[in-house]
Amino acid sequence: MGCLDVGCGPGDVMRLMAERVGPTGKVVGLDMDGNLGREALSALLGMGHHQCSFAEGDMQSLEQTAHDRFDLPMRVSLSNT
Ligand SMILES: C[S@@+](CC[C@H](N)C(=O)[O-])C[C@H]1O[C@@H](n2cnc3c(N)ncnc32)[C@H](O)[C@@H]1O
Repeated sequence: MGCLDVGCGPGDVMRLMAERVGPTGKVVGLDMDGNLGREALSALLGMGHHQCSFAEGDMQSLEQTAHDRFDLPMRVSLSNT
């Protein structure tokens, strides 16, 4: 199973996805903040989630591609308001 976390931020949802798909799955995090995403990936790899990767980019130009290529494109929005 392949999953894409659109706006992956610090990678909390990516970690849950990685646990769900297991070592033979695929988890890609996409975020416009490359530094944050690379830090998230480093932490995930350090936890042994080698099925994870990160791509820096803007979701608005990639969402249709994501729907075509992944089983579970996921975007979680959090707000304090
Ligand atoms: C609340 S965080 C997401 C947290 C993440 N889903 C988690 O639970 O670990 C929102 C993220 O969306 C990213 N973001 C906002 N607009 C974006 C865009 N147009 N393209 C890609 N990433 C975007 C921000 O950089 C931020 O890291």
